[in-house]
Amino acid sequence: MNIKSHLSLSYKKNKLFIDDHCINSITKDLKTPFYLYSVKALESNYLNFYLAASNNGLSNPLVCYALKANPNLSLLKSLKVLGAGADIVSGGELKQALKAKIPASKIVFSGVGKTEDEIRLALKCHRDGIYSFNVESIEELEMIGTVAQSLNKKARVALRLNPQVNVKTHKHISTGGKSHKFGILKVDIEKSLKKKSLWKNIDLVGLSMHIGSQLTCLKATEKALKEIVKLASALPSPLEFIDVGGGLGVPYNEDHPLSSLEEYMSLVAKTLKSNMKVIPRVVFEPGRFIVANCGVLVTEVIRIKKSEENKFIIVDGGMNDFVRSSLYGAYHHVLPLSKRSGNPSPCHVVGPICETADSFASNRSLPPIKSRDRICIGDVGAYGHSMSSTYNMRERTKEYILDVDGNLKTN
Ligand code: LLP
Repeated sequence: MNIKSHLSLSYKKNKLFIDDHCINSITKDLKTPFYLYSVKALESNYLNFYLAASNNGLSNPLVCYALKANPNLSLLKSLKVLGAGADIVSGGELKQALKAKIPASKIVFSGVGKTEDEIRLALKCHRDGIYSFNVESIEELEMIGTVAQSLNKKARVALRLNPQVNVKTHKHISTGGKSHKFGILKVDIEKSLKKKSLWKNIDLVGLSMHIGSQLTCLKATEKALKEIVKLASALPSPLEFIDVGGGLGVPYNEDHPLSSLEEYMSLVAKTLKSNMKVIPRVVFEPGRFIVANCGVLVTEVIRIKKSEENKFIIVDGGMNDFVRSSLYGAYHHVLPLSKRSGNPSPCHVVGPICETADSFASNRSLPPIKSRDRICIGDVGAYGHSMSSTYNMRERTKEYILDVDGNLKTN
């Protein structure tokens, strides 16, 4: 049986395989909980994304992988080899991208709270600085100008438009509305363009947007794209690029339909082509789409607790290791590494952390599971380890990488 959303996972004779390797056999000596990533899946996701852009007629697209989804160095190095750039939001992510040898000329810097130190680091990391500061306020633009002046440099900047759209996703990860802290309203962008003093040490090279994450429908994306294209076309001189952000959703749960990569790319291409005379370079900032289905969290069952009608499968992984289910109520598959025969029954899969929110699945119908069995939580490559913590004084979760030759390595 093939599990649709998992590029790299399948059951063979009731054993769970990743990239043709039995997970139990290759990881039986590893202490749980741990993340296991497939480089094969990562590479194929990246290439699919890049090819979809170029096949839709977008020439020389720049795919800046959003490091926040998963900044694992081995994964970054693999993406770098394929030509990926980086979308970063902190000095730490900048250093990590450079460590993976991603060139500064492919790095865009997003985020509302860039500090003076971070701006200086980004300007100094290369003679020409980074590809773009995606600026989120006029106040930030002023700061970038001041820092650039002090270094006798010019900063390359894209203004992030707040397109005032409402996105159908979890409210914590919707970023394109007027009351959200992100981006600059069109009126303020227009005002800033008229204020010459702002631009002394700054080159306006692009416009950017990012309206939210895990976008399953493209209505708001279409509206925002139209807004950004309209603004770009009204500028006195043509832009080098338009950065359309990230956000494309992934099928965590096959029962919930969502827009495909192809639909997304053709929408981006069509909107640009039908509204602009000269199509600028398109920059993308995908995170989740590139890495979500590359990772599983392997965890071991400590004990099964029965409490009248409730059956708790208590595992050694907790919300500190993987927080998406607790924080967003997100659905993730629970997959035993060895499937036992017998009838499925409703279970709660919970961790050892002292919070009721510490749960990976509630009332999930699962095949028989016993203590010491290993199970995995699926599609955790994005916002898994990167959001993990040592809450309850637990060890930081380990990560293992399955490379394309089938070797297992740590970073
Ligand atoms: N660009 C910007 C400016 C962003 O803020 C983000 C994500 C991305 C790109 C990448 O978005 P993606 O393609 O991965 O959807 N922790 C949450 C997701 C937070 C997303 C934050 N920004 C989660 O686990 O769902």
